[in-house]
Parts: sequence; C-alpha cells; structure tokens
Amino acid sequence: MLFDETQKQPSLFDNIAPKEKEDWNTVKEESSHCKRCHLREGATQVVFGTGSIKSPFMMVGEGPGAQEDLEGEPFVGRAGQLLDRILKAINLNRNDVYITNVVKCRPPNNRQPSVEEMAVCKTWLEKEIKIVKPLFIVLLGATALKGLVEPGGKITRMRGQWLEKNGMLYMPTYHPAALLRDPSKKKPVWEDFKKIQQVLIKKEVGQ
Ligand code: URA
Repeated sequence: MLFDETQKQPSLFDNIAPKEKEDWNTVKEESSHCKRCHLREGATQVVFGTGSIKSPFMMVGEGPGAQEDLEGEPFVGRAGQLLDRILKAINLNRNDVYITNVVKCRPPNNRQPSVEEMAVCKTWLEKEIKIVKPLFIVLLGATALKGLVEPGGKITRMRGQWLEKNGMLYMPTYHPAALLRDPSKKKPVWEDFKKIQQVLIKKEVGQ
C-alpha cells in the first residue's frame, strides 16, 4: 500500500525559522552542483535530504536507489514506502521527520558507497545536521552506522541501542530494504521504533 496521502499532510514541526530554511535552501542548491566524487557522473541528480528541518530527529539511509535518483527525493521507492508505514506506526508521517542519506548520488547498480565516497559526501550531511540540530539520528542500516558512528560496526550487534558519539545520540536499526528481504527483522525494528517513540513522548533517552 502506498502512503501518498502523507505527502500532503502538514508537518507537526512546521514552524520553520526563516534563517534555517534559507540556510537549508542554500546548502541544497550548493550540493546540486557537487562533483566531488565520481558518483555524480553516473547519477541523474544529487538527492538531498527532505522533510522537516525542525524535526527532533533525522533518519539517515545509505544512498539513493533508482527511484530516488529519478525523482530527486530520498526513500521514495519500495524501501521508502515501508519506511512510511513504520513511521505511521508511531503516528508520524515523512513530513514530520528529516530524511537523508550518507551519499547523495546513486552508486552504480546500487552498490555500497566506498569509504572515500562516504567521507567526501559527509560534508553535506554535516551541514544538514547543523541546520536540523536533531535530538538524535536514526541510522537506517549498516552503511549509515559505519559512515556516522563506527567504521567496523555490525548492525546485527549494535541495533536497538542508544549510542553516543561527539555529543550526538544515534539509534541504529535495520534498513527497510533489509526488512523487505527478511521479514523476521520486522520485530526488532518495531522494538527499536518503540524506543524512539518513548523518547519523543518523554523526551528522555534510555535503554
Ligand atoms: N535506500 C537508501 O538507503 N536510501 C534511499 O533514499 C532509498 C533507498
């Protein structure tokens, strides 16, 4: 089932300060001309983050897939539709959260981005984090975990735990595409999102 209707819903966090919106527009525009790595050559466009820049949390995936590359928006393919359903289960829609990726250009044949590509592209992600100033970041899958927290991190071992690095809190969980391949991962992801929901309700972080 598609969740197109969520696209039109106003965000719970719509009260955007003009300065932050302006900064975000500037960075998005700058990123659209980025040629810092070879990924741009094979991609249709740079896929910058989307959603509410006033959201208390950000979700970070790996990189755009075929549909995202065409539409210029993160998580609009099958994995994105599942992500919409997961968000709906905790009473949110995609306009309530800020959604982005470790790399902004689609890697050829959806291969994993290299360590170098992630490092080069990280400047854009860092700028997004600086503007959104999230309370915490949800890491969708192993690539986001490796790119942001722990280069050798194992998602199976580290998911579902609040991690702290350089003053930022992270919640790693499985990537929605992994759930599509292996439905047994749905239960642990639901447990992880219940922890996220608790924090949003109580504004407290715990195990
Ligand atoms: N997978 C990702 O990691 N990001 C997207 O935007 C889409 C699929």
